[in-house]
Amino acid sequence: MSDSQTVVVDKSGHKVQQMFAEIAPKYDLMNHVLSLNVDRWWRWRTVRRLAPKADARVLDVCTGTGDLALALLQHMNKDGMNKDGTQTAQAATGGGQTPTASRGGTAAAGRQGILTSDQASARDLGDCRVVASDFCRPMLEIGEKKASRLPGQALQFVEADSLRLPFPSEQFDLVTVAFGLRNVSDTAGGLREMVRVSRPGGQVGVLEFTMPRLWPLSSLYKFYFLKVLPRVGQWFAKNRSDAYSYLPESVGQFPQYEQLAAMMQDAGLRDVKFYPMTFGLATLYVGTKSAAASETGTGGPSGAAELASPGDLPRSSATPGGRS
Ligand SMILES: C[S@@+](CC[C@H](N)C(=O)[O-])C[C@H]1O[C@@H](n2cnc3c(N)ncnc32)[C@H](O)[C@@H]1O
Repeated sequence: MSDSQTVVVDKSGHKVQQMFAEIAPKYDLMNHVLSLNVDRWWRWRTVRRLAPKADARVLDVCTGTGDLALALLQHMNKDGMNKDGTQTAQAATGGGQTPTASRGGTAAAGRQGILTSDQASARDLGDCRVVASDFCRPMLEIGEKKASRLPGQALQFVEADSLRLPFPSEQFDLVTVAFGLRNVSDTAGGLREMVRVSRPGGQVGVLEFTMPRLWPLSSLYKFYFLKVLPRVGQWFAKNRSDAYSYLPESVGQFPQYEQLAAMMQDAGLRDVKFYPMTFGLATLYVGTKSAAASETGTGGPSGAAELASPGDLPRSSATPGGRS
């Protein structure tokens, strides 16, 4: 990644917003083509590992077209099924208690479309089991279309900046982000917001691209990622912006493995573990919000952050260095 590291990737909000707005109509297709459909499997593994309960409250930030949010909700619906295929009473009503709402079910109510930040902060979203936020409206519009067959308000899309989430603190049992944190201009700030809205004891999950460390896969992948993918992507998406050169550049400059795990600890998470998938092409990081998050935050790369599946990746090849 040497040539990509010489220029710092421009992640200013406006540029990122515009880039995703341009590629939004083809985003899902491109994801599946360029990853040979493996992206679906990564999200599936992520959902299986995070395993939110049927009555959990979940927030997926940088949700884009909502694939992870939809997969999470699907899992929660399954979790809330009786053996005969009917919904458990708890799942049907939205289940458990939240700090802000009774969550008595309004499953019959129609969908209310994408909410703006202001609308979301003024409204009680207690009936929504999954809230999915992003600051790029065209991406959300595609997600909203996919969700249009869902009954009621189980899934609510919100147009919001991940650095200024319009939700009160300590609301969600699980806060996730898939392939999104890398695009947020302030990685540490994005993590802090995710931790802020998570309830103490809640989980934060980050799914992100990583570079495989095992040779010769690492070299082959660099060639594909740096030389092939940007050309195929550009040609397919026919977008004017440089979205598919931005992808390898932003991955190359983003903290990986121990570095990102350490940042998650610094943001107030404990027991941070990471799970490399497909030889380390993507990695899921999971941490738990400390009961008193503000009292933590001293973890470093050699702290409690652990490699969860050492078989996938040699710990000794960890790359020390910068975190952003
Ligand atoms: C690569 S897409 C990932 C979408 C989706 N999570 C997925 O798994 O396919 C990155 C998304 O992050 C969003 N994003 C980047 N920075 C953001 C920010 N500061 N606030 C909200 N969304 C942001 C973009 O608009 C884009 O939809």
